[in-house]
Formats: sequence, C-alpha cells, structure tokens
Amino acid sequence: MHAYRTGKHATVLSDHLEVPGIGFLPVNAFVLHGREPVVIDTGLSLPDRDFVAALKTVMDPADVRWIWLTHPDRDHTGGLFDLMDAAPRARVITTFLGVGIMSTERPLPLDRVYLLNPGQSLDLGDRMLHGFRPPLFDNPATVGFYDDASGVCFSSDCFGAAMPSAELATSTDAREVAASDLRAAQLLWAAVDSPWVHSAHTDRYFETVRSMRDIEPDVVFSTHLPPAIGIGDQLFDMLAEAPAADPFVGPDQQALEMMLASFEPAHV
Ligand SMILES: [Fe+2]
Ligand SMILES: [Fe+2]
Repeated sequence: MHAYRTGKHATVLSDHLEVPGIGFLPVNAFVLHGREPVVIDTGLSLPDRDFVAALKTVMDPADVRWIWLTHPDRDHTGGLFDLMDAAPRARVITTFLGVGIMSTERPLPLDRVYLLNPGQSLDLGDRMLHGFRPPLFDNPATVGFYDDASGVCFSSDCFGAAMPSAELATSTDAREVAASDLRAAQLLWAAVDSPWVHSAHTDRYFETVRSMRDIEPDVVFSTHLPPAIGIGDQLFDMLAEAPAADPFVGPDQQALEMMLASFEPAHV
C-alpha cells in the first residue's frame, strides 16, 4: 500500500489485488483533508495489510473525525476496527443496512455510527458532503458522495477496472490507460461486479447515470480505479453502455480442475 496526494484536498491510499483471469484490481482508500478529516474506506482484509500504519504516513490517525464506509465489503473494511481504535473521535458513516451487514461479522458500536442515506448531506463546517447511490454498485448499503468544496466525487466500486499490470493498478492517473482499453476494462468490471445491470430497467438506470453526470465532478475517485481527472464524459459514456455489454460468466468446476491439473508436477 502506498499513499500519494492528488490535488489539494485528497490523498489516495493505493493497493491492488491480482484477480486470476481478470487482471490487477486497484483497491483504494482515501483521505479527504479539511477541518474534519474523512477517511473513505479502509482497505483489504488480508492479514498482511496494516491500514493504520499506511495512514500514519499521511496523518495522525487520532485526528480522523469520520470514516465514510462506502459499503461493508471485505475489500473496504480491512482496517476499520483498528482505525476506530486509533481514532477515538471518529464516527463511521454508513446506512442502517450497513450496520446490519457488519453485525454478521463484528458489530459496530452504535454510538460510533452515523447513519446517512443516499440523498442526505453532512455538514463538516468547511464543506458539505452529499451522499448518493452510484449508478453501479455491488452492495445494497452502498453510498458514495460528492464534496462541493473540492468538486471531487467518491464513487465506491462504480467505474472500477482491473488493469493489465500492478503498475497501472497503482498508477496515479486513469488517463495512463488508453481510453478504449479503459472502457473495455470498465465494462468487464461492470459485468463482474454489477451483473444486475444487464436486466435492469434501462430508463431508470439511465436516470441514475444522468443525475451523477449532472454533478459534473472534476475528479472521480473510485475504490477500484486510479484517480479519474477530467474524463467525466468518458466515464459516463461507458456507464451508458454497461446494460448492453457482454455478461460475465466465471470459470466453472471443469475449468478449475484443468487449472489445478496444470499445477501438478509432470509424471516421469
Ligand atoms: Fe463491493
Ligand atoms: Fe470493492
């Protein structure tokens, strides 16, 4: 995991995970700096990751005031409880359902929770964070947000794309990938992560794309994409193609057995 500042307002805590047959998936968490610092998601749940140590390279974790959990999937909750210990004043922004999902593994203390639904806003004094449901998501507790002070948008899993290399997965700018390659990778991720998009009511889905497009964010921070700076049209055009893109079918048992057989040492 490495951290880098992007623009005046945000730091990316950049990690990645190799997904066999798919590519190298960026896994990002973020810090939104300001009067009341916000950490957005807390990284992978793998035992060798130390989210709080990575955050310490950026700021004193004790100063964190909010942890915006975009949704409680395990690639977003890795450092959650360690960070809550290290940041005793921080409250976890999630939904009622997010609290419920977390309670199946380790319950969140309710006095540390702040419930915020899509369409609601949070006033941090120097900025307003406007929660919204991104057009694509893989968890019903998903809430992204737009920060009106910086013009940046945090989109959770939406706009993700597995990259052809670890270097690109952890790059500082999505524009390092050719637009056509990025579009193909994002459409594959959309099919993998949000397969419901192929059967959604397209008019209603397009409405969600339009309302996010109307925000006109300067920068989109996806948890599974390098920062997307000034390529809003490209991103939203891709979303509009997602319903008609090829569905994803994962390897089946026969494919798994062939793969395992290829690992066995050859008989002499
Ligand atoms: Fe997810
Ligand atoms: Fe994710």
